[in-house]
Amino acid sequence: MAIAPELRLTPQVAPSILSADFCRLGEQVDAVIAAGARLLHVDVMDGHFVPNITIGPLVVSALAPRVHAAGAFLDVHLMISRPDFYLQDFASAGADGISVHVEACPHLHRTLDEIRRLGASAGVAINPATDLSCLGEAIHLADYVLLMSVDPGFGGQQFIPRSVERARRLSALLPSGVALEIDGGIGRSSLGAVAHAGVDWFVAGSAVFGAPDPSSEFRALQSLAEQAGPFRV
Ligand code: DX5
Ligand code: ZN
Repeated sequence: MAIAPELRLTPQVAPSILSADFCRLGEQVDAVIAAGARLLHVDVMDGHFVPNITIGPLVVSALAPRVHAAGAFLDVHLMISRPDFYLQDFASAGADGISVHVEACPHLHRTLDEIRRLGASAGVAINPATDLSCLGEAIHLADYVLLMSVDPGFGGQQFIPRSVERARRLSALLPSGVALEIDGGIGRSSLGAVAHAGVDWFVAGSAVFGAPDPSSEFRALQSLAEQAGPFRV
């Protein structure tokens, strides 16, 4: 499923629930959506591809109705080995976009095709130490590319400065319909630089949910993203 033009053509800060208070998850998700979030980022980790274990399709299906009722997009980031086994589960749970790691997918063409066949947008994610040339063919099969600006596995890590240059090179390679998302260490100090480098979507976990008022921090970051331009079209 192609990305809706209103999402592709405007900068979007995507709050990552990894840093939310899981005892108040619904309430916190409602708050950032009410503040204007149109992308909600969900981090799935398996304790194998990455050292951490987080959540699965059950939580995605619990969130989907409230995210969809608000017209927002559920962006599911699979940091798992052998993601092919779980695509159907996440699509059925209500994921609008599913991203898989290039490092975890020997048959990326088939995997991205399958995500689209299931009715979701197909994302391809790439780790900080993986050469961008690995994406050469895949970018033509994807709806969005997720550039990791930390090593995946945990929230609250420090932004890797080299990611700005990587974002610049990657944005120059992307076909115009393919969105560029960045993930890891995004907050007030890093967002401007990556926006100028051509990033469209900015995942922010600890910056949003670690703030005393997640809604107002979301709004502050979203307005930074909107002011940063020039925006890649
Ligand atoms: C890290 C995850 C991120 C995480 C980002 O592996 O993919 O989405 O939530 O967290 P922050 O914004 O705190 O770096
Ligand atoms: Zn993520």
